[in-house]
Amino acid sequence: MGTQRAKLDDIKGKTAVVTGAAGSIGAAITQFLAEDGVRVVAIDMDLGKLKSVVGSFEGDVYPYVMDVSKEDTVASVMTQIRKNVGDIDILVNVAGILSNNKLMDTSVDEWHQIHAVNLDGPFFLSKEVLPAMQNSGWGRIINIASYAWKSGGKTSGTAYSSSKAAMVGLTFAIAKQSAEFGVTVNGIAPAYVMSPMVTEQLNDEQRDKMMSEIPVRRFSEPEEIANCVRFLTSPMSAFITGEIIDMNGGFQFD
Ligand SMILES: NC(=O)c1ccc[n+]([C@@H]2O[C@H](COP(=O)([O-])OP(=O)(O)OC[C@H]3O[C@@H](n4cnc5c(N)ncnc54)[C@H](O)[C@@H]3O)[C@@H](O)[C@H]2O)c1
Repeated sequence: MGTQRAKLDDIKGKTAVVTGAAGSIGAAITQFLAEDGVRVVAIDMDLGKLKSVVGSFEGDVYPYVMDVSKEDTVASVMTQIRKNVGDIDILVNVAGILSNNKLMDTSVDEWHQIHAVNLDGPFFLSKEVLPAMQNSGWGRIINIASYAWKSGGKTSGTAYSSSKAAMVGLTFAIAKQSAEFGVTVNGIAPAYVMSPMVTEQLNDEQRDKMMSEIPVRRFSEPEEIANCVRFLTSPMSAFITGEIIDMNGGFQFD
């Protein structure tokens, strides 16, 4: 076999976009990729929060404000990013919003807003980055979905589950069309990562119940998701595309 032993730092010098970079999981991904020598464009809604979170990270981190749900904003900010930072090799779609409302409590506005951020954003951004990835013959798109995509939502609501299931469909569709160009497209489906989504949006009773149901008896840490992203960007995973990696502590085996 001609394949060499892969090194995690083989992605040094690549340029990544990470959305939701001021949040728990996005910040960990931004930090770890930057420490690996990746130039990271860190995107979130609020510049102040973003700078305070990513400002102390080692390496090349470029904070940009963008509402990923707005097509025009995504197009204009991505044009600036390409001009100032360069073409994007790695896209990590992390920005997302949660609602725990089940069907009858979900308004049409909430339905559209959740899908706009969780699904439209990754759709707009994938269209922005894919042409350059295909031209260069190398690219990685990683979508942070959720266990809700196939569980129907343990505590999370209908719109959230639907948006994450659609994100998985988007992952498969782009993986299929871009594989021959050297671009892999994968997802990660976490369940219960220590973040405000768990600490603030679940009550004590829900948290205790979930903890007792997770076989590993703990919630995941944002850094564990970030390590999986490193794996999916590295040569170690070069033959993996159209895959959704479960990170749910054994909630479901399949
Ligand atoms: N925390 C969990 O338990 C968990 C479990 C499964 C999946 N996820 C997914 O992981 C991702 C990150 O979750 P987290 O726990 O870090 O959440 P978080 O709330 O800490 O971070 C989300 C970030 O996205 C940003 N954001 C929201 N809307 C945006 C928009 N329109 N444009 C740009 N940025 C926007 C927020 O400002 C925030 O900084 C989400 O997609 C979430 O659905 C989280």
